[in-house]
Amino acid sequence: MSTSRLSLFFFYAILIFLVNNPTINAQRDPYVLHECSTTGNVTSNSTFRANLNTLISTLSSNTQIDYGFYNFTAGEGTNKVYATGLCRADLSPTDCRSCVNISAHELLQLCPTQKGGVMWYMNCTARYSNNSIFGVMETKPTRALVSGDVSNLTEFNAVLKPLFYDLRVRASAGGIFRKIAVGTAYYKSDNYTMYGLMQCSPDLSEIDCSNCLVDAQSYIQDCCSGNRGLRILAPSCNLRIETDQFYDSTLVQSPPSLSPPSPSPPPSKGKGSNSSKTIIAIVVVVVILVVIIICFCISLRVRKQRKKAKTVDEISSTESLHFDFPTIRVATDNFSDANKLGQGGFGVVYKGRLSNGQEIAVKRLSQGSGQGDLEFKNEILLVAKLQHRNLVKLRGFCLEGCERLLIYEFVPNGSLDQVIFDPTKRAYLDWQRRYKIIEGIARGLLYLHEDSRLRIIHRDLKTSNVLLDDEMNPKIADFGMARLVILDQTHSNTNRIVGTYGYMAPEYAYHGHFSVKSDVFSFGVLVLEMICGQKNGYFRNEENGEDLLTYAWTNWRSMTASNIIDPTLGVGSTTEIIRCIHIGLLCVQENAADRPTMASVVLMLNSNSISLSVPSRPAFFIHSNVEPDSQSDQSILLASTNDASITVLHPR
Ligand SMILES: *[C@@H]1O[C@H](CO)[C@@H](O)[C@H](O)[C@H]1NC(C)=O
Ligand SMILES: *[C@@H]1O[C@H](CO)[C@@H](O)[C@H](O)[C@H]1NC(C)=O
Ligand SMILES: *[C@@H]1O[C@H](CO)[C@@H](O)[C@H](O)[C@H]1NC(C)=O
Ligand SMILES: *[C@@H]1O[C@H](CO)[C@@H](O)[C@H](O)[C@H]1NC(C)=O
Ligand SMILES: *[C@@H]1O[C@H](CO)[C@@H](O)[C@H](O)[C@H]1NC(C)=O
Ligand SMILES: *[C@@H]1O[C@H](CO)[C@@H](O)[C@H](O)[C@H]1NC(C)=O
Ligand SMILES: *[C@@H]1O[C@H](CO)[C@@H](O)[C@H](O)[C@H]1NC(C)=O
Ligand SMILES: *[C@@H]1O[C@H](CO)[C@@H](O)[C@H](O)[C@H]1NC(C)=O
Repeated sequence: MSTSRLSLFFFYAILIFLVNNPTINAQRDPYVLHECSTTGNVTSNSTFRANLNTLISTLSSNTQIDYGFYNFTAGEGTNKVYATGLCRADLSPTDCRSCVNISAHELLQLCPTQKGGVMWYMNCTARYSNNSIFGVMETKPTRALVSGDVSNLTEFNAVLKPLFYDLRVRASAGGIFRKIAVGTAYYKSDNYTMYGLMQCSPDLSEIDCSNCLVDAQSYIQDCCSGNRGLRILAPSCNLRIETDQFYDSTLVQSPPSLSPPSPSPPPSKGKGSNSSKTIIAIVVVVVILVVIIICFCISLRVRKQRKKAKTVDEISSTESLHFDFPTIRVATDNFSDANKLGQGGFGVVYKGRLSNGQEIAVKRLSQGSGQGDLEFKNEILLVAKLQHRNLVKLRGFCLEGCERLLIYEFVPNGSLDQVIFDPTKRAYLDWQRRYKIIEGIARGLLYLHEDSRLRIIHRDLKTSNVLLDDEMNPKIADFGMARLVILDQTHSNTNRIVGTYGYMAPEYAYHGHFSVKSDVFSFGVLVLEMICGQKNGYFRNEENGEDLLTYAWTNWRSMTASNIIDPTLGVGSTTEIIRCIHIGLLCVQENAADRPTMASVVLMLNSNSISLSVPSRPAFFIHSNVEPDSQSDQSILLASTNDASITVLHPR
């Protein structure tokens, strides 16, 4: 690294020329808040305290690269001290170091005997602890600072929700150097633009960052709903809303400058003659130009190396999920037709057997997934964390050239459509079994929508995406595909909608708007299909040409609901079946707001005492102009031509 050392020398040299005003801007930020840990005390003459003091003094002479985050340790064993400093991204390196320095010094005075503490300054956060805090998410203690009131809380919250969602997604996706996002939203009732910021400590993983911000956001309900100025402060993340622009958006949004720390300023130079001044000026300008170019190259290279380092990190964390291509090729007998389990919207699925005898299902993505390897792996990490007994488990992935494979657990009994629409196999599913399946699907979907914290909208729930294990428990497949495959990769005004005719909610089919309520619609269709044993897509009532939904509704309203019950279900349990039809009808309401959430659906299924509202006429079945293929029920990629954008609304 001798070249980079040489360039570093030039960098210092240029600073010696450049820095005219040696006074470091050590102006004290107004004191904000602090919190000392309550886990343990030490005496002021202890080794721990001595280590802490050493660490604080290294702060000012630190040699770490400045990207607004510092990480220090001092000492050994039980007396080891860990500390971090985090600045808002629009602070200059000098201001940042000074902010961290001051807040750390102050924190030590404020917590003289404690083993840990956190200090929130206006523009930076300093923490120390006897436990390792690097890469560890901590949301407690949480503190809030508020100002002002809003006049219309309903509207304020409605405006805040999508803003927070957007900030959270962008901040968590920021990468290993910087996890911060700023944005604005217009709040009509009081006629002003609100400015928001969310930031995480960049050493957190994407999912930890997102979770920390979710917690910070939900803290608002406890402390200060209805304030126009808000700061929620947690050790690992913070959020802020103001009525005026409190940040420098160009600096926050520019990539971090990975510059080495600035050296101490030079002694000022004496005066020379005019001509020598000119010469010096020219030399300086030339040197400056050369050095700027060199610095640029260094920063590019450092960034590249960081990126490489990041890739290595990610790979080690995804290592357990990674499968070799040759292994998979052998396991699936070179993707032989004999091992083909089916074809979905995203690619062919093969059955495989690993050398240890374990069975797997391999989905070979047909199109490139449209995103880089790193993003793909990050998404895999997230989706693999979704684990629930009613979801098919994602076991890993394989990347090889442009091949992308998803490896799932193998679920032995095939998909629900192969049983429920088969005239002979159908009889095996008596009402108890069908009810158990409906409940399981509802729970899996509820987990995706609300309990997993990631808020996954399935977008293509249907009988062929529900697999049955050896005890006929349902497992939802193909969830999270919107994360693994970028759907909208064509022209900006053409949105690709993934979904299947017959299951698609009208607002999704016509406008591309999807929400958890579009999944509820698909669930409702699925419930009605389970009860009548027929596919919505092929159902036609001979008399009136009604589709399944309308037929079910008409019969339910005229108290003849038993007409639609699959005759193989025989008699008995009719009350429960009719209640299920009722729930199904509530789920397929035309207006998304009239449909229940999955949480309510699970409640309704669990308790017969909950009274149900009266459904109105359901949405019309969305007809396909493509003749349905009689064998398999494939996902259809529909290019919608209107300019409505696919948006994920309603964050948690
Ligand atoms: C630490 O000291 C503080 C006051 O100095 C006291 O309130 C607290 O109980 C002590 N904590 C422990 C764990 O000893
Ligand atoms: C930090 O201090 C607490 C309280 O004294 C103790 O329980 C914990 O084990 C310590 N952590 C380490 C890494 O020593
Ligand atoms: C720290 O000071 C106290 C008295 O203030 C003394 O009892 C103790 O032995 C000292 N501990 C060390 C490690 O010097
Ligand atoms: C850090 O802060 C301490 C105390 O406020 C001060 O004495 C010291 O000069 C500061 N160091 C730098 C580099 O600003
Ligand atoms: C920060 O500290 C941790 C724990 O000491 C260490 O593993 C990590 O490499 C450090 N990171 C940086 C960027 O210094
Ligand atoms: C930091 O905080 C101070 C007020 O404490 C403010 O004046 C300043 O603009 C903030 N931002 C930056 C980038 O320094
Ligand atoms: C608050 O805003 C909502 C939505 O913009 C509006 O429907 C409601 O009437 C407003 N309430 C008041 C009291 O202004
Ligand atoms: C909103 O405020 C702006 C100035 O901040 C003003 O020009 C505009 O007329 C206001 N609009 C309403 C509807 O009050």
